[in-house]
Parts: sequence; structure tokens; C-alpha cells
Amino acid sequence: MDRVKDKVIIITGAALGIGRATSILLAKEGAKVAVTDILVDEGKALVEEIQKNGGEAEFWHLDVTNENQIERVFADVYQKWGKIDVLVNNAGISGVNKPTHKIKQEEWNLVMSINVNGVFLCTKHAVNLMLNHGGGSIVNLSAAYGLVGSPSLPAYHASKGAVRLMSKTDALTYAHHNIRVNSVHPGFIMTPMIEEHLGGKENVEHGKKFLDRLQPLGHIGEPDDIAYGILYLASDESKFITGAELVIDGGYTAG
Ligand SMILES: NC(=O)c1ccc[n+]([C@@H]2O[C@H](COP(=O)([O-])OP(=O)(O)OC[C@H]3O[C@@H](n4cnc5c(N)ncnc54)[C@H](O)[C@@H]3O)[C@@H](O)[C@H]2O)c1
Repeated sequence: MDRVKDKVIIITGAALGIGRATSILLAKEGAKVAVTDILVDEGKALVEEIQKNGGEAEFWHLDVTNENQIERVFADVYQKWGKIDVLVNNAGISGVNKPTHKIKQEEWNLVMSINVNGVFLCTKHAVNLMLNHGGGSIVNLSAAYGLVGSPSLPAYHASKGAVRLMSKTDALTYAHHNIRVNSVHPGFIMTPMIEEHLGGKENVEHGKKFLDRLQPLGHIGEPDDIAYGILYLASDESKFITGAELVIDGGYTAG
């Protein structure tokens, strides 16, 4: 308990999947959690659940592609709780699964606008506020697919590769301000994103068995497997870690 006690933490894309599990865990460990997402009903329901269990959280509607909204929401969180200690850049989409020569420019740009520009814009506005309070921790969700290629999802791979190096550059740029920046690299984790990738709920069971066989540990991961990694990077337990890649992938990229 209390591994992130009284830290003010903003999580983007927090309503479902990894963001949801992370919000619950960080609140359980004493954080004040700004649950932000484009999904209002799911986000509000999550906040109610956290509060019912004695945690502190509030919901803000936030589209990570909208800079004005980001600036306004982050200022609101700052005003409510007096600081921003941690930003978890979690919002992301996998985008269309087509080979490069069949992807339309707008399909490519959509992935980049959320997965890359969203991380840029949220980092920009969080850093401005963290500088007022002697530092902070930024945790960026890249992916195992940001470390290695596969014959699928070209825009997704490109976007997650970008997030990996944005994290290292920002780690070096802000180290002397005590702002740590690290990337997390999940392998396959059972969330709505993967359900969609497998072709919807009715195909999940069959698809999961196929994906399980691809993992050295014999099964795909759960959202909590990633949430525990994010908790560590958000907490002061990781105070000497910046510019690092935390790979949580059941061994997928070890070979
Ligand atoms: N699930 C996996 O296997 C896996 C693997 C590697 C990396 N990741 C990364 O982890 C992060 C979370 O993935 P997930 O599986 O929980 O995804 P998910 O699709 O289950 O949830 C993503 C959340 O992001 C929100 N979102 C989408 N567009 C948004 C926008 N423009 N602004 C704000 N919020 C937005 C969605 O509403 C949703 O709540 C993503 O960055 C993803 O790329 C996931």
C-alpha cells in the first residue's frame, strides 16, 4: 500500500484496458488519479468504482489530439490537486492492419496523431507544470512492436518506435530538472484493443489460444502485468531510472 501516496497522476486513455487497470492500481497505492479519456460513460464509471473502494480519482474528457483541451485539462488537474507528479501517456490505437502500399494517408495520420502527437502534446504541457514542482515522472506506452518489426500494422510499429526514442530524448533533455521519462513495452495483453485485433469478442477464445502459443511463457498478458510496471516507474522506487525501456512481454522479444 501507499507506493505512490499523494502523488497526482494523469493517465490518458484511462477508461479501458491497460489504462483502466493502471488507474485502479495507482489509486489503491494512494495516488490522486486524473482519469482522462474520450469515453465519458466508461471513464465516469471507473472513477465511481475507484471512489467506492476508498480511492481518490476524478474524470476529465480528454482527446490527446486536441492541444487546447490538453492545456485546459492539465491546468484544471493542477488547480484541483496543486501539482502534477506523474503523466502516463497511455492512449493509443492500433490502426488499420494493411500493408504499407495499401494504407491511405489519412489512416496513417490518424495513428500518428494519437500515438505520437498525443504523447508529444501531453508531455509538452505536463513538463511545463512539473517544472514548477521540482520534477516528475513520465511513463510512455510504447510496445514490444516498438522494438521489433512484424509483417503487420506498419503505422503502429512506426508510431511505437517513435515513442521509444521520444522517451530517451526527453529523458536526457529534462534529467537536470529531475523529470524522469521512461518507456514501457507491453507484449500481447488481453484488452479491448487485442479483442478488436482478433476480430471481436466472438473470436477471442480461438484467437487467444493462437497468441498464447507465440509467447515463450505460454500465454498472453493481463492489464495488471503492465500496471505493476507503470506503478514502479511512477513511484520513487525507480528514482534512478530514466531513459530506460521496461519490456513486459512474456519473453516475446527475448529471442
Ligand atoms: N494491449 C496490448 O496488447 C498492447 C501491447 C503493446 C502496447 N499497448 C499500448 O498500451 C496502450 C493501451 O492499450 P490498450 O490495449 O489498453 O488499448 P485499448 O484500446 O483497450 O484502450 C485504449 C484507450 O485509449 C482511449 N483512446 C483512444 N483514442 C484516444 C484519444 N484520441 N484520446 C484519448 N484517449 C483515447 C480509448 O478510448 C481507450 O479507453 C496503448 O498505447 C497501446 O498501444 C497495448
